[in-house]
Amino acid sequence: MSPSAEPQTPPAGASGALHHKTMPAPAKAESKKQTSSNNIIDIRQASVEMNLRDEIMSQFRPEKGPRTMPTLLLYDEAGLQLFEEITYLDEYYLTNNEIDVLTAAAAEIAQHIPQDSMVIELGSGNLRKVNLLLQALERSGKRVEYYALDLSLQELERTLSQLPRYEHVRCFGLHGTYDDGRAWLKTPAILHRRKCVLTLGSSIGNFHRDDAADFLRGFADVLHPGDSILVGLDSCVDAAKVYHAYNDKEGLTHRFVLNGLTHANRILGKEVFVPADWRVIGEYVHDADGGRHQAFYAPVRETVVFGETIYTHERVQVEQSVKYSPAEADYLWRSAGLAETYKWQNKSKEHGLHLLTKPTMSFSLLPSVYAKSVLPSVTDWEAIWDAWDTVTRRMLPNEELLDKPIKLRNACIFYLGHIPTFLDIQLNKTTGQPATEPAYYSSIFERGIDPDVDNPELCHDHSEIPDEWPALDEILVYQQRVRERIRAFYEANNVSKSMTKNHAPVSRPIAQAIWVGFEHELMHLETLLYMMLQSDKTLPPPSAPRPDFAKMAAKAKAARVENLWFDVPAQDFVIGLDDPDDGTDPTRNFGWDNEKPARPAHVHAFQAQGRPITNEEYARYMYTNHVDKIPASWEDVSEKTESATNGHSNGHVNGHSNGYSNGHANGYTNGHTNGHTNGYTNGHAEADIEPLPESFLKGKMVRTVYGLVPLEYALDWPVFASYDELTGCAAWMGGRIPTFEEARSIYHHVDLSRRKQSAEKKLGKTLPAVNGHLSNDGVEETPPSNSGTTTSAQDDEDTLFVDLDGANVGLQHWHPMPVTAHGNRLGGQSEMGGVWEWTSTPLRRHEGFEPMKLYPGYTADFFDEKHNIVLGGSWATHPRISGRKSFVNWYQRNYPYAWVGARLVRDIK
Ligand SMILES: C[S@@+](CC[C@H](N)C(=O)[O-])C[C@H]1O[C@@H](n2cnc3c(N)ncnc32)[C@H](O)[C@@H]1O
Repeated sequence: MSPSAEPQTPPAGASGALHHKTMPAPAKAESKKQTSSNNIIDIRQASVEMNLRDEIMSQFRPEKGPRTMPTLLLYDEAGLQLFEEITYLDEYYLTNNEIDVLTAAAAEIAQHIPQDSMVIELGSGNLRKVNLLLQALERSGKRVEYYALDLSLQELERTLSQLPRYEHVRCFGLHGTYDDGRAWLKTPAILHRRKCVLTLGSSIGNFHRDDAADFLRGFADVLHPGDSILVGLDSCVDAAKVYHAYNDKEGLTHRFVLNGLTHANRILGKEVFVPADWRVIGEYVHDADGGRHQAFYAPVRETVVFGETIYTHERVQVEQSVKYSPAEADYLWRSAGLAETYKWQNKSKEHGLHLLTKPTMSFSLLPSVYAKSVLPSVTDWEAIWDAWDTVTRRMLPNEELLDKPIKLRNACIFYLGHIPTFLDIQLNKTTGQPATEPAYYSSIFERGIDPDVDNPELCHDHSEIPDEWPALDEILVYQQRVRERIRAFYEANNVSKSMTKNHAPVSRPIAQAIWVGFEHELMHLETLLYMMLQSDKTLPPPSAPRPDFAKMAAKAKAARVENLWFDVPAQDFVIGLDDPDDGTDPTRNFGWDNEKPARPAHVHAFQAQGRPITNEEYARYMYTNHVDKIPASWEDVSEKTESATNGHSNGHVNGHSNGYSNGHANGYTNGHTNGHTNGYTNGHAEADIEPLPESFLKGKMVRTVYGLVPLEYALDWPVFASYDELTGCAAWMGGRIPTFEEARSIYHHVDLSRRKQSAEKKLGKTLPAVNGHLSNDGVEETPPSNSGTTTSAQDDEDTLFVDLDGANVGLQHWHPMPVTAHGNRLGGQSEMGGVWEWTSTPLRRHEGFEPMKLYPGYTADFFDEKHNIVLGGSWATHPRISGRKSFVNWYQRNYPYAWVGARLVRDIK
C-alpha cells in the first residue's frame, strides 16, 4: 500500500478489515455510531504546516549539530493510517501490552475519574485502546466528556465515527497540536472543570527525557490539584524485541517513517526529498541516557537536498522511542512536579499505565486560578501550609533550627512561631476574639528583625528576643491551633460555599487581616529559603529531584541567543491600585499600603534588554575589572582548601562572612551612571567572546537548595546579588538598572503587546487566509458545553494580574533557570529566570501613601533612603505576589542575600 498524499475517507469498517483484532465490543446500549463532524473543535492557533515548514528547514540545515527532521512529519493522514496498521503487528508489542493493562484495569482507572470530568487524550491516533476506558466509564454510569486530540481532521473524523454512541460518555475531537491543546485548556470556560489528561501508547517516549518532563509539567500547569494525567510508558529492556517492534519484517514501520519525506515534500510544495533516494535505519541504543530506539533517514546514494549534497554515510534522525526503567520513570514524574498515585502493569511489567496527580507544592501560574477569589480559599491555605511544612520540616534539619544562617536575622525557629502568631494577631484585632494560647507568643513572635546592614544596631521595632525559644513541639502544636482557627472561621462563615469572585462573606477588615496573614506567610517562605540557601545543612526539596545541572547547562549553551535591546515607547499608564484602608467594598482586590492609591505615570521612551545579567556576565565583569568579592549567591570552595586566590591571582580574600559588612564604600548613584566605556560590547555575538579562564572558574560554585553547583553549570542563569554589586556591573556593560517606573513601563509594554498578539491570533482564526485550507469546515471553536461566565472580577483579574505562564516563579523549579535563550524577546513581569528585578528607585513615601492601620510599620519603617524597590518575583515567590502588577518589594541596596537580579536599560540617544 503506498501512502497517498490526498485525504482519503475509508469506507466504514475499513480499519476492521485490515486488522487482526477488532474494536472491543461495545457495552450494551452503545450500538449506534456517532457522527463526529460537528463534534470536532478547531483549537489550532497557527497553521501546523507553516510551523513544520520552518522546522524542516531549520532542523535539516542546523547552524550547528547533526541534521534532524521533525517527528511530527510522520503523522499526516497517511502516516496515521500506516501507524494504525502497525499497532496490529505482533512485533509491535506496545499496543497489545497496553490493551492487556487496560482490559484488566479500565474499571479501576474509571473509578479515579470523577463525574463530569473532561478526559482529554493527547495524540489519540486510533481509538480502539481508549475505547476500553470509555466503555468502563460508560458502565460506571459517570457523565464524562472525552476529547480526542490529534493533528489530522480527516483521521479524527474517521476514528471518532467508529466509536459507539454512549449514553453517559460524550465524545469530541480537538483538532490541533499538543501546544494548541494546552492553550485551549486554559480557556476560562473550561479551566476550572475536573480533568484527566491521557497520553497513551508510549507517545511520551517520542520526547527526549528532559523534554518529556517539560511536556508533562506544561500540562500539569493547566490542571488543578487533584486532576490527573494518565501516562502509558514502555519499559521493555529486551533489545531484540524493541528493535523488531520498529523494524518489522513486513517493512511497515519503515514505510511509515518514509512517508514522512512525502509529507515533507507536500509541505515544501515540491519534491525536495526524492523518496527513492532514501531508506530508513533503525537502531536500539542503551547508553548513559538509558534505552531507546532511534529511527533515521539515510540516503541510498548521494542525493541533493536544498542544494546540499548528502552523502551515503549521513543519517538524519526523525524519531526516537525512549524506554523507561522504574527509576527513570520515577525521576520523570518528579522532574515534572507530579506524584504517581497509582500504577497498573501487564504481567511482564513491560508496560505501565501511570496515574499522576498534581500535588499542591507548585502553584498555578494562571490568573484565573491564582487570583480567582476575593479571599484565599481553603485550598490556597492548605497549599501554602504544605509548602511551608516542606521547607521547615523536611528541608530544615532540627539541628539547624537554632542557627542563624544569616547573622543579621533571627534564628530559624523564630519563623516557625512568627507565622502563626502574626496571623493570630491580625485575626484578634479584627474579630475581637481572644488570642490562641499560649497568648504570650505575641510578645516574642510578633515581629522579626531586619537591621541595617552597615550598622546592625539600627533596627526597626521588633519583638523581644527571649533567652530561650519555646520548644519545637510546642510551637508546632500552636501552629496547628491557628490553622484550625482559620479553617473553623471559614466553616462558621460558610466562606468556601458562599464566596464568589464578587462576594466575600466576611467584613472588609477581616478580609484584610486574612490577606495580610496569607501574603505574610508567602513572603516568609521565600525569606526562610534565602536564609537556608546560606547554610550548608539545608536538605533538598523532597518532591523535586536534583536536576542534571550539567546537562541543563549544555542545553542552555546551545540555545543561547543575543541579548537584544528593545525600544520601550513613551507610555502613560496607572501604577498601583485603589483599595482604601477604610473601604468596605469586599470585591476590591487586596493590596498593601505601598500599592495604594492608583496613580498615573508617564514614562519616557527608552531601551531595555530582553533578559537579565547572567552569572557568566557577572563573572566576566569581576574578572576584567579585578573585582574580588563574589556575590553571596556564590561560594568559592577553593578558598577553603587553598590560600584564597582568584582567577587573576591577586591573593584577595573574598569570603563574605555572614554578619556581612559590605567592604566597598557605597558610592550610590541611583543607577543613572551610564556609558563609561568598558570593553564589554553589548549585543555581542556569544561566539565572539573568549571563554572565562578555567583558573577563574575553578572552585567557584553557585548556592542552590541542592547544595553547591559548579558556576560553569550556572553561567546562563541570572545572577543574583546586591544592588551595589549589580549597579557596577550594569555600568560596565554599558547600561544602567531601570527606575521603578521604567521597569513597570517594560512590563506594561510587554503585557500590551502580548494581549494584542493574542487578540490578533483569535481574529486570525476566523479568517480563511490565516487558517489556510482547514478553516472552519464543520469545526466549532468553543467547547460545546459548560460555557463560562465573564464577570467584572474577570476584568479585574485581567488588569491587575499577569499570566505567568512560562515564568520561573511559584516553585515550578527550585533554582533559577537559564535565561540566555530569551534574549531575543523582551521579558515582562517576573520573567527574569527566577529572580526579582532591582530598580534604581529608593523606597519612598509617594503622594497619597497612607500606612495601613492593621500594620502601620509594614512599609513606613523602611523609608530610610537605604532600600530600593524590587519587582517581579523569584522561583519561590507565590503567583499572587509575582503576578500582581501593583506589588512592591524592597531590599537594602547592599543586602547581599536576597534573590534579586538586574537587567540593563539605556536612554535613547
Ligand atoms: C505514537 S502515536 C500514538 C497514538 C495513540 N495514542 C496510541 O497509543 O496508539 C502518537 C500520536 O500522537 C500524535 N501526535 C504526535 N505529535 C503531536 C503533536 N505535537 N500534537 C498533536 N498530536 C501529536 C500523532 O498524530 C499520533 O496520533
